[in-house]
Amino acid sequence: MQRAIKHPDPRPRAESNIVPMAGSDPVRHPNSVAAEVRNLRKTYNAGTPHAHEALKDVDLSIRANEFFTLLGPSGCGKTTLLRILGGFEMLTSGTCRIFGEDVSRLPPEARPVNTVFQQYALFPHMTVRRNIAFGLEMLGKPRAEVESTVERMLDLVHMTDYADRRPDTMSGGQRQRVALARALAPQPKLLLLDEPLSALDLKLRQKMRLELKSLQRETGITFIFVTHDQEEALAMSDRVAVISNGHLQQVGTPEDIYEQPQSRFVADFIGESNLIEAKVAGVTGGEASLDIEGFGKVHAPVAERVEDGQKVWLSIRPERLVLGSGDGQERAKVTDRTYLGNAVEYHLHVGEHALTARSPRGGLRGRQDFAPGDVVSVGFEPGSIKVLLS
Ligand SMILES: Nc1ncnc2c1ncn2[C@@H]1O[C@H](COP(=O)(O)OP(=O)(O)OP(=O)(O)O)[C@@H](O)[C@H]1O
Ligand SMILES: [Mg+2]
Repeated sequence: MQRAIKHPDPRPRAESNIVPMAGSDPVRHPNSVAAEVRNLRKTYNAGTPHAHEALKDVDLSIRANEFFTLLGPSGCGKTTLLRILGGFEMLTSGTCRIFGEDVSRLPPEARPVNTVFQQYALFPHMTVRRNIAFGLEMLGKPRAEVESTVERMLDLVHMTDYADRRPDTMSGGQRQRVALARALAPQPKLLLLDEPLSALDLKLRQKMRLELKSLQRETGITFIFVTHDQEEALAMSDRVAVISNGHLQQVGTPEDIYEQPQSRFVADFIGESNLIEAKVAGVTGGEASLDIEGFGKVHAPVAERVEDGQKVWLSIRPERLVLGSGDGQERAKVTDRTYLGNAVEYHLHVGEHALTARSPRGGLRGRQDFAPGDVVSVGFEPGSIKVLLS
């Protein structure tokens, strides 16, 4: 559950923890680790009948200057992990380091971290300019520096024209930008963002994705971004950690996560996948022959050891199924055809298996169009079948 933060959090931070303002130069920490957790566990209400293990033995390293995303379904532990990094929640066991320093026992104000919460509570009675200046003043920055920083932040988030307005006279997206400017103003080394775009409509969210990404590049600040929206995660991140039920499932670039899922959970949660049960019918030289009931045999590389007769799952993206006709291999029946604008989606039945195929519109890339009731052949693009053991 997301816990509402009643007040903004421009807490004063120890001077030494704030990266000095260096004009508009991005903060660069080449090759260093921004945040690291080891054997991290978090149990809420430990020792009571309501004990709940929210994080289970999480190991994670986030590099400096990275746009890093924690992705997973509701309740998987994303906010918990972010709050532990920010110092708003105590870890149960393990360690948490920020730029090499063990911060496991440090309060939020002693960490070189700032946070944008989902409820980006701005001070309603203050203008945009005052909202951004407040945290800097609390840090005891000289007036001239506060003023120049505020102007620079206003410019960075394209809110200069709104500087004298109050938050309650602005749209959600505008308030979001102010919240970002306020969090960025003291130039924290690390910025934590908990679903900061979820209150915005789709168009604005897409626009803010690009803005956030370029803000991260311009400032060089390490961003740890939380979302349950896989499209958002893929679009914005340098790397993504997929979390399920308190476990870290996989960490990798968006391409890795999408193209090389290592478990059924990741294959299914990121984009769409056809997950088909199969049996290993032989392995030679890193390639397995796999028997799909009611369909026949397919071949795919296997990274891990598998044995004859072992049950596995095959993951195949809908866009990598190739439908055809006239090749004598027609075994699948089209049960539905959905026009999606940029593609056509076909639902198919092959024996016991229900499959989804997606194809650029009929005619494009030489692909044929099919209608419900058609019987078609199903092929797989080379390298499209991932063999999953769990
Ligand atoms: N203060 C708390 N006391 C007890 N249980 C909690 C507390 N905060 C969170 N939890 C539980 O811990 C688990 C992880 O919660 P968390 O808020 O980290 O999830 P999340 O991934 O951020 O979910 P969402 O996407 O819905 O925000 C959930 O089952 C939640 O109910
Ligand atoms: Mg959350």
